[in-house]
Amino acid sequence: MLFSDLPLHPILRKKVEMRGIRGLYPPQEEAVKKGLFNGKNILMVTNTASGKTLLAEILAINTVMSGRGKVVYLSPLKALADEKFRDFGQYSELNLKTILTVGNYDSAEPRIEWYDIVCTTYEKMDSIVRHRPSWLNEVALIIIDEIHYLDDEKRGPVLESLIANLKLIMPSAQFFALSATVGNANEIASWLEAELVESSWRPVPLKEGVFLNGKIIYSDGETRRIKTKFSSPVLDLVYDTVEDGGQAIVFVNSRRRAVSLAKTVGERLNLRPNSESDELSEKLRHSSEVTSLNEELAALVRSGVSFHHAGLTVEQRREIERGFRGGAIKIIVATPTLAAGVNLPARRVIIESSERYVAGEGSEPIKILEYKQFAGRAGRPGYDEYGEAILIAKTKSDAEDLFATYINGQPEKIRSKMGTPYKFRTHLLSFIVTFDGSNDEGISRYISKLLLSKQLRKKEIAELVSESIKMLTEGNFILASGNAYIPTELGRYVSELYIDPLTALYAIKALKKGKAITEFSVMHLI
Ligand SMILES: Nc1ncnc2c1ncn2[C@@H]1O[C@H](COP(=O)(O)OP(=O)(O)O)[C@@H](O)[C@H]1O
Ligand SMILES: [Mg+2]
Repeated sequence: MLFSDLPLHPILRKKVEMRGIRGLYPPQEEAVKKGLFNGKNILMVTNTASGKTLLAEILAINTVMSGRGKVVYLSPLKALADEKFRDFGQYSELNLKTILTVGNYDSAEPRIEWYDIVCTTYEKMDSIVRHRPSWLNEVALIIIDEIHYLDDEKRGPVLESLIANLKLIMPSAQFFALSATVGNANEIASWLEAELVESSWRPVPLKEGVFLNGKIIYSDGETRRIKTKFSSPVLDLVYDTVEDGGQAIVFVNSRRRAVSLAKTVGERLNLRPNSESDELSEKLRHSSEVTSLNEELAALVRSGVSFHHAGLTVEQRREIERGFRGGAIKIIVATPTLAAGVNLPARRVIIESSERYVAGEGSEPIKILEYKQFAGRAGRPGYDEYGEAILIAKTKSDAEDLFATYINGQPEKIRSKMGTPYKFRTHLLSFIVTFDGSNDEGISRYISKLLLSKQLRKKEIAELVSESIKMLTEGNFILASGNAYIPTELGRYVSELYIDPLTALYAIKALKKGKAITEFSVMHLI
């Protein structure tokens, strides 16, 4: 199937052809056959670089150009929403009005009325929805990128509750949800009332392996001994890649580590610089207002190495990515943000550690889905015969564990993270604020739209509801009026500030003991 076979607006069709994109990748074709361009909800769970984002872009533009309505593009991070906004800029001659909105969680964003495509984060959209602006009625398509964030303790409940609210407010809008890693894709598709496109197809084959004692052991049984010049697994692997004419991305777990390891790689490998590296280095020397960071980057890039994390400006990241694609940069040491966002393939992906330090918890293994996201970056279409993802083991049993857990493991099932009283009451309050005057029936409808309703027993959900209503009423966050629940001013305020009502209650009690002040002024203090 060709893109020219799709029911695209003629100008868009021409634009796609001009980008040199002709045939659809197999998973893209499957999504089209399942009704993507006929308004069907689709959940697409396919590997990194299998063309999800491109398809979403084309669908978004076509939706606007064919006059169906507005598009909301939801990303998990501000940096990614920003990137998406810039991507739509490539289609500027089509006269689309695209807006980026990420900050300030207290506005209905009425100016969006005048725009066609809204690029935003889950949190910002959630806060917009609470104000119920009238432009919501014009939304025809909602794209949810990286939907596996549903499983995230912190971000997941916001996304889940947002989806439930969107489904209630705009029952006829189309949903297109994307992810490379969902263990229970069938269940998530059924929750989203979507057709499922699930495929293991990838544009470049992937070889996965573990590095132990100077040797890469691949999952197909093959091995490769490499020079252990530096007696450091990462440095040896990186050196081997570059010597072989390839490029590598090393994933590490913190910004600080990304900078320090990039420096070590730069100093120890001592790669011969090329003139493009020098040029890029000069450009980066004046790339932001933070002089020390500019100098750090410039010095590193001169030796063909860079770090990449969300602390850099969008422009800096774009330059680094461009430099990597063009060959001025051979090695990038990156935080996990890179795995979720831009399309930046490398011949070899190295995962420095399968453990991460979590404040207060100590070391924790990374999720399988995170590993799969990293591995998905391996292999440059058109350049590499195959890509490689390498984990590093210290001992033989360590190597066996890594094979069993990550390489042969399936990504985790996505579990609703709304089933605790704390998360539940917070989002129930936000529902009541959004649908002022909702009653028990309304609450039941809301719950039926949550993933929680598929994963938790009815009896337990009923307990969560009654406990939460009791707590919210006693705390004066909501009032029961007839059979409706009305948010109080305090309730609205707490909800807009994203505070747990119980925390707010403690703060109010503590402060009231001191002085006679109103609840509202207390909330101003928080
Ligand atoms: N059908 C296609 N033909 C050629 N290139 C494609 C096609 N679909 C996507 N691409 C390109 O492949 C790369 C990865 O696509 P992308 O949409 O970012 O994948 P994903 O979102 O699944 O990771 C991008 O550079 C994109 O432009
Ligand atoms: Mg993508």
